[in-house]
Amino acid sequence: MKILITGASRGIGLEMVRYGLDQGWDVLACCRNPQRAENLLSMAQLSNGRVSVFLADMSELATLQALAYELRHEAIDMLINNAGVYGSDKNSFGQVDAHDWAETFKVNTIAPMKMSELFVEQLSMGRSKIIACLSSKMGSMEDNTSGGSYIYRSSKAALNSVVKSLSLDLADKDIKCVALHPGWVKTDMGGPNAEISCKQSVSQMFDTLLNLKAEDSGRFIDIDGADIPW
Ligand SMILES: NC(=O)c1ccc[n+]([C@@H]2O[C@H](COP(=O)([O-])OP(=O)(O)OC[C@H]3O[C@@H](n4cnc5c(N)ncnc54)[C@H](OP(=O)(O)O)[C@@H]3O)[C@@H](O)[C@H]2O)c1
Repeated sequence: MKILITGASRGIGLEMVRYGLDQGWDVLACCRNPQRAENLLSMAQLSNGRVSVFLADMSELATLQALAYELRHEAIDMLINNAGVYGSDKNSFGQVDAHDWAETFKVNTIAPMKMSELFVEQLSMGRSKIIACLSSKMGSMEDNTSGGSYIYRSSKAALNSVVKSLSLDLADKDIKCVALHPGWVKTDMGGPNAEISCKQSVSQMFDTLLNLKAEDSGRFIDIDGADIPW
């Protein structure tokens, strides 16, 4: 199994690298600043060549093109679009920061789409043929009972829309595409009061991913494997 993970420097992405390594997989671990990703680099150093580290900045789309070219001959089983940002705290009614909204959209919504376009041939050469996008329940309309968080909520709702179209457009290539909610996870983004550890979140998400069937493509899936209402 060979997996490609974005945002692998810390949090859920770094834990996914650790999980892949424990399984004996090959991991293409991407981050925007490899020199500063100390934990990832030391994991790669101890991996006997199973973890390779690459530059991919989700807000610099040229770096994604360069990466896809460098990896053009690789058969990849899973593309995991994990990198994400919450955006500015100027995200409540009356103070939404338009510039930050555009930047957040680039990372959370446009980059996963471009990664999917750029890696479709490599995924076609792989066996599992999965695109997993880390979304959030905060992108669900039905789950939104508290309002606010305009920037993050809309970027993840739009990501869900991307996932749905990808699932239809890539069905003839047998590529399955899903949006995953990782739970409320103890990371820099989730904060110390979050409900679950990275380890628990990642192992439950991989349970889901390793059992995906063609009919699951296009789903918005909770950490326990249940559907989340759009
Ligand atoms: N934690 C939660 O409770 C929770 C809940 C729902 C959804 N999610 C989603 O799960 C995913 C991972 O979240 P997390 O909790 O692990 O967040 P995190 O701890 O804040 O880590 C975010 C990761 O994304 C990377 N990243 C940010 N901007 C990037 C860019 N422009 N290019 C490349 N990488 C970039 C960061 O890299 P740097 O180290 O370089 O900054 C870091 O590796 C996100 O998509 C998030 O929206 C998380």
